[in-house]
Amino acid sequence: MKPFSEILKNQEFTRAELVQLLSSEGDERQQLFQRAQTVKLETVGNKVYFRGLVEFSNICAKDCLYCGIRKSNEKVIRYEATDDEILEACRFAWVNRFGSVVLQSGELSSPAFVKRVDLLLRKIKELSSGELGITLSCGEQTIETYRQWRKSGAHRYLLRIESSNPELYRKIHPENEFHRFDRRLQALKDLKTTGYQVGTGVMIGFPFQTIDDLADDLLFLKQIDVDMVGMGPYIEHEDTPLYEFRNRIKTKQERFDLALKMVATLRLLMPDINIAAATALQAIDPSGREKALTIGANILMPNLTPCDYRKEYQLYEDKPCLDEDAELCRNCLEARIELAGCEIGYGEWGDSKHYLK
Ligand code: 5AD
Ligand code: FES
Repeated sequence: MKPFSEILKNQEFTRAELVQLLSSEGDERQQLFQRAQTVKLETVGNKVYFRGLVEFSNICAKDCLYCGIRKSNEKVIRYEATDDEILEACRFAWVNRFGSVVLQSGELSSPAFVKRVDLLLRKIKELSSGELGITLSCGEQTIETYRQWRKSGAHRYLLRIESSNPELYRKIHPENEFHRFDRRLQALKDLKTTGYQVGTGVMIGFPFQTIDDLADDLLFLKQIDVDMVGMGPYIEHEDTPLYEFRNRIKTKQERFDLALKMVATLRLLMPDINIAAATALQAIDPSGREKALTIGANILMPNLTPCDYRKEYQLYEDKPCLDEDAELCRNCLEARIELAGCEIGYGEWGDSKHYLK
């Protein structure tokens, strides 16, 4: 086995080496974080790019076993933000020189939904004179829909694979035609074909998942050659079927630590991609996202969802920023990012260098 400090100098990593990085503790873990920080500064630089997140609807046709807004959770009050509310949030992003917004929602694919998103895309482009970059996070769609949305102004798309291991995927999703691993993989391919910058990611520390699985997830990200990654700790939610296994998972702190190591290791494996500091990190540690920025992440998604809706978009417990309005959030974020030693890329799209290549 190679010494840890030698592995860190690699450009390519074997599965066993990734496992070693992900298992590091103490001084070794510190070395990993140091190295990831250096690689980040050398490749994507010191800037953090903002993506204002608008969770515009929590109506969802899916029933993922871990997710708080799954279809079967009847405790959730379903909402759909109005066009005005959505456009107002986007205007805030534009005026405050956030380079981009992310429109996220539950997964729907009715013609009405497809059309609504399409119109929104056009209106957002119009209100910002084409300046706001738009990322979509609206789940699996047909390739025609992806193509249409791309034409109307979206240029990035986030679709997490959640786990790259088909068997594990099956364990955390219902067994039916709406939750097929292969279908999700195909959607990722379609997004590439249609010219998006594609982002995916996994949850870290959910029941049944092992360190080997996570190493495979990293190799998967590399293999499908993604441009952007968002991944965070799994956080249990009382009103979901997976809650039953809450005693069989790592502690929250352990899942948090593992998520940071995943971010740092991914930065070594794919130096020039965009990596988001996941909101779920902040649900465990108040400065979780800033910690991720220090050790490899370079994207932050301030929440611009109208406050009244936020408590109904609880994918997991303790989701942060329930009350802070966008203005408060922005001020607080600026201070935090400075503390993390980074600079904000105001008014820039901050596209993935990997994609541009
Ligand atoms: N814990 C952590 N992340 C979750 N997500 C959904 N439910 C949870 C949970 N319980 C993540 C999924 C999804 C993204 C929008 O939120 O990865 O893709
Ligand atoms: Fe939301 Fe600070 S990040 S209030």
